[in-house]
Amino acid sequence: MAKITIQDILKKKAEGRKIAMLTAYDYPSAQIADEAGIDAILVGDSLGVVVQGLENTLPVTMDEMIYHTKMVARAVKNAMIIGDMPFMSYQASMEDAVRNAGRFLKEGGATAIKIEGGAEVADKIRAMIRSDIPVMAHIGLTPQSIHRMGGYKVQGKTRSAARRLIEEAKVAEDAGAFSLVLEGIPMALAREITKTLSIPTIGIGAGPHCDGQVLVFHDLLGLFDRFVPKFVKRYAHMKQDAVRAVEKYREEVEKGIFPAEEQSFK
Ligand code: KIV
Repeated sequence: MAKITIQDILKKKAEGRKIAMLTAYDYPSAQIADEAGIDAILVGDSLGVVVQGLENTLPVTMDEMIYHTKMVARAVKNAMIIGDMPFMSYQASMEDAVRNAGRFLKEGGATAIKIEGGAEVADKIRAMIRSDIPVMAHIGLTPQSIHRMGGYKVQGKTRSAARRLIEEAKVAEDAGAFSLVLEGIPMALAREITKTLSIPTIGIGAGPHCDGQVLVFHDLLGLFDRFVPKFVKRYAHMKQDAVRAVEKYREEVEKGIFPAEEQSFK
């Protein structure tokens, strides 16, 4: 199978086929996502929380994002790789935005970038696209706006807020984004945005009517348990399983059961 392209992602929406996206941050997680047939791997700045153990994504740097994107790129054969623009990599100037977005393609091996925001980053989306950098936009609950939002709160709940998000979505599409993440919004609003746009919407905490879904790798596999958002479905409980396995190893070392003869040289 060949590498998945932007055109393949657009075709999926046109044909009414759902898009499965997942985050990954390193060689093993990317290999698992790719072998499982995931369409697009997002090297999300969520790595700040689930890999680095930070409180939120704000401290994550461009250099850290490139470091992780390179590891992902080494593992992936088919999935599209999307690099996530971290906080303050695009806000201060147009030049920052284009240069940093370009690093994901030039150094990281990504096909596209994701940027939080719609209307307020439309000029930057246009500039990136003029530089041949495909862009996925991200509206609704945007984690880099945690302090403006006063926490991770569902967005677009009032009629005026919903209308604003519909407008933001159209502006992102008009600016040239090839896809749009809808995070933490009511499912009826996500359905309306999905019907309005010709580009695919990818939901997280936005209900079943989006053109695709994205989850955080560590949430899906039950590797992260500091908090579990309502929208997460755990398909495994790998942290519990790993703790049990490591406990067993410790007990066997303490009792002299490991290593046995088959793990020893003659
Ligand atoms: O950083 C991330 O992983 C994300 C997704 C959850 C959409 O932005």
